[in-house]
Amino acid sequence: MKALVTGAAGQLGIAISRRFGRDGKVVALTRAQLDIADHAAVLEVTRATRPDVIVNCAAYNDVDGAETDPVTAMMVNGFAVRSLATASREARATLVHYSTDFVFDGETDRPYDESSVPAPRSVYATSKLLGEWFAAEAPRHYVLRVESLFGGGAEPLGSGGRRRGSTLDKMVDAMLDGRPVRGFTDRTVSPSYVPDVATATHTLVAAQAPVGLYHCVNGGLATWFEVAREAATRLGCESLLSPITLDEVETPAVRPRFCALSNAKIVAAGAHLPAWEDAVTRYLTARSR
Ligand SMILES: NC(=O)c1ccc[n+]([C@@H]2O[C@H](COP(=O)([O-])OP(=O)(O)OC[C@H]3O[C@@H](n4cnc5c(N)ncnc54)[C@H](OP(=O)(O)O)[C@@H]3O)[C@@H](O)[C@H]2O)c1
Repeated sequence: MKALVTGAAGQLGIAISRRFGRDGKVVALTRAQLDIADHAAVLEVTRATRPDVIVNCAAYNDVDGAETDPVTAMMVNGFAVRSLATASREARATLVHYSTDFVFDGETDRPYDESSVPAPRSVYATSKLLGEWFAAEAPRHYVLRVESLFGGGAEPLGSGGRRRGSTLDKMVDAMLDGRPVRGFTDRTVSPSYVPDVATATHTLVAAQAPVGLYHCVNGGLATWFEVAREAATRLGCESLLSPITLDEVETPAVRPRFCALSNAKIVAAGAHLPAWEDAVTRYLTARSR
């Protein structure tokens, strides 16, 4: 299988390139090599590469910045995905595209499943929902909603090229440095361990699972405080952790409060996505090596 990976320098892009490279050929393109907002370039690269699958890891992820730069957010997260869908159709390739829990308003107390109705509350969230719709224009597509990604970057961690961009990565960095950490007690998520997302993505594509929308997260749910406490307990740093609520922090973009996602559909399709506690344990073990 030959994979074309866009946004290949991002935390998921690195992991996806490695996973698909293990048993296939990968053309991994960073933003400098392919700007997905350039429609002609997307078509040209796809024609030259002739991939079996296009995995789009590129995104405009500045949730707050999107409120004042909606054009870039819509272009990269929305309209560029239409170009990728067109290219996929022309190349008869499968398109994998990632979306987010932010497409929901968070006004619930039960995990969302794939039939739940989106209600985005920010520019970023709306741009990602647009991308979902455009991705579905590719005849063979997987739209995978992930959330609170952690543990991305070069694997195995610690062997150089480490990248610690996510919230949990930064929290663990702070704990290891003896700095205080605050975790939201009123934002509930289903965290997604990047290596597990990469493996699940490969499983779906390789098994030719039914196309469509999937929630690609680790099992279970937790508040950000609970996720941080799990890490703090294992590191013996509980005293560094204190609670905070969303109301205490002013942000330009609204954050949904309860955005746990059910992963039942993707697990039934054959993906292995263990409980988030298991993922945090493996993540901390990988970091300690
Ligand atoms: N991180 C999370 O917690 C999270 C949560 C929910 C959903 N997601 C989704 O998961 C996917 C992967 O996210 P991630 O955390 O791996 O993102 P990331 O680390 O921010 O990587 C995104 C990559 O896309 C590149 N990019 C930006 N604009 C581009 C363009 N016009 N053309 C080509 N590349 C471009 C970025 O390059 P530069 O660095 O040069 O800008 C970066 O390398 C995205 O679809 C994201 O929306 C992530």
